[in-house]
Amino acid sequence: MQPFELVIREAKTVSPLIRELVLEASQAEALPPFTAGAHLKIQIPELNDQRCYSLIVTDPAHDWQQSPQQYRLGIRLEEEGNGGSRYMHQLQVGDTLNVIGPVNDFPLNAAKDAEPALVLIAGGIGITPIASMAQNLKQQQRPFSLHYSARTQEQLAFADELQALLGEQLICYTNDQNALDLNQLFADLTPNQPIYICGPQGMIDAVIELAKQRGWDRENVHFELFITAAPLAGDQPFEVELRQSGLSFTVPADKTIVQVLEEAGEDPMYDCLRGECGVCTVDVLEGTPDHRDYFLTDAEKESGKVIQICISRSKSPKLVLDM
Ligand code: FES
Repeated sequence: MQPFELVIREAKTVSPLIRELVLEASQAEALPPFTAGAHLKIQIPELNDQRCYSLIVTDPAHDWQQSPQQYRLGIRLEEEGNGGSRYMHQLQVGDTLNVIGPVNDFPLNAAKDAEPALVLIAGGIGITPIASMAQNLKQQQRPFSLHYSARTQEQLAFADELQALLGEQLICYTNDQNALDLNQLFADLTPNQPIYICGPQGMIDAVIELAKQRGWDRENVHFELFITAAPLAGDQPFEVELRQSGLSFTVPADKTIVQVLEEAGEDPMYDCLRGECGVCTVDVLEGTPDHRDYFLTDAEKESGKVIQICISRSKSPKLVLDM
């Protein structure tokens, strides 16, 4: 995909931490179409890197078949992050951005006959792709409910327009008043209701685990993480040997295998960098992987024969990979 330039036409604060940007082509020409759950990859010049932001649609008249005139984003300020969101928050109307996309790694499945009601769950800024899904499902008159959780009432960004769009299909929760109880939510669901969730990693992990405990099919839980690999307390350096090339590297506690290989001039395959897509799968010849991905099955993880090198690490001092 080729990058292209967009201009910021509107910018406003929609919650204490979330800023909304409305983007247009510089000559106001139509933009590439997208589907619910899609995101833009935005170049952050200060970091020489990209950040992904989901496209929000809550307009009931939006035509998903047409080329849109505008893209709308919600960006959460991450004070502890490495600067991507701070860059996005200081942008002003008239500033330009280089973008790639739209790309959709979190699509809604096509409607099935006699489909059970879909369950949408959003935590915090995870509302951005989920809002577009809700709008799309509403337009298709498919059955669903949206469970939207934030820390406080004022952090429920876009809640007013979602309330107007969805009515009783929107259920809001705040940690300080009526916290979302996932156990209770699951108690009210029927087995294998399709779930689409976007939010903090802990919330996604909890939903995956609850579905697993109930014996639900794994493919009925659809999710999108907004994070890339982050070190955990106690992470240790380890050695990685590439058997085909004969090269060896040390992977420090605060870097991933992919990062180390790239810094060394290697060209590893990857895409999401979140352990979701499967693009970076590599065969393990020796050593014990420390799996942190959401792509491999439990059986594949137990086999120890493959690893997602974008996020997973090593339990043994050394891993030998077939690359
Ligand atoms: S790059 Fe997507 S799973 Fe590793």
